[in-house]
Amino acid sequence: MKFSVCGKGGSGKSTVVALLAAEARRRGLRVLVVDSDESNSGLFRLLGFPHPPVPLMEMLGGKKGLKKRMGKKDILAEEEIRLDGIPSPYLVEKDGLGLVAIGKILQALEGCACPMGALSREFLKKLRLRKGEVAFVDMEAGVEHFGRGVEEGIDGVLLVVEPSLESMTLAERVKELASGVGKPIWAVLNKVSSQKIEERLKEILQGKGIEVIGVIPHDEEVFEASLEGRPIERGKAAEGISRVLERLMGGFSDAAPRRAVGAARGR
Ligand SMILES: Nc1ncnc2c1ncn2[C@@H]1O[C@H](COP(=O)(O)OP(=O)(O)OP(=O)(O)O)[C@@H](O)[C@H]1O
Ligand SMILES: [Mg+2]
Repeated sequence: MKFSVCGKGGSGKSTVVALLAAEARRRGLRVLVVDSDESNSGLFRLLGFPHPPVPLMEMLGGKKGLKKRMGKKDILAEEEIRLDGIPSPYLVEKDGLGLVAIGKILQALEGCACPMGALSREFLKKLRLRKGEVAFVDMEAGVEHFGRGVEEGIDGVLLVVEPSLESMTLAERVKELASGVGKPIWAVLNKVSSQKIEERLKEILQGKGIEVIGVIPHDEEVFEASLEGRPIERGKAAEGISRVLERLMGGFSDAAPRRAVGAARGR
């Protein structure tokens, strides 16, 4: 199953991806995280890798090389992409957790990020996961990825909502856009500091026809971990994610998370 994680800038997309990845590993699933955010570059740290993977964009000769190919039907050479088929500099992997990055904007005046959107779309469309494998895609902030068709190859959209008006307003647009491309959408509330706020957000989202499948409290540990560039320890936030993963995968029986832990850690 492939899930995209989207939402407003700073709402907690990368945090939620890291929490979901850790929880899925605990349940014995093999996990691929796809970094589809062309601006931020710190996701590898949240996942506990010492360095990021070489972006897939480099495999294709960088942005210039890809631009030339964009008009052609087949951007990537392979018909199907399997997890085991991604060569090592482009995939960093440890204990059943893998990370690939689409590409990063590194220079001023480099041009728009459209080629990266096209690469994200094609990569996710061609990515074939086996039973017991799951992918989480850390999206760029906002909704442009919908316009670029990045969601075409994914199975469901997880929207991260923080307690802010902007975040709620964006939720409505994301719901429309996801429905427009026929993808199921769920929301997870993040940075929630009280029962009252949780209830209010749930009520508003329900009114917009968006189901809330989990709540992650505001957690100092999460904030400190990101500040120090290290993985999030188990704590309040990690507890909140367990239900989210269960609900996400519950609808897709072939990949339902297993309950086993310890023995399934290594590959
Ligand atoms: N539940 C939480 N409790 C406390 N702080 C949080 C929580 N979730 C996220 N944060 C903090 O909020 C900030 C933004 O989080 P994060 O980087 O995950 O958001 P993002 O949506 O990926 O941002 P961007 O749009 O820049 O990619 C970080 O400093 C992070 O540590
Ligand atoms: Mg992020």
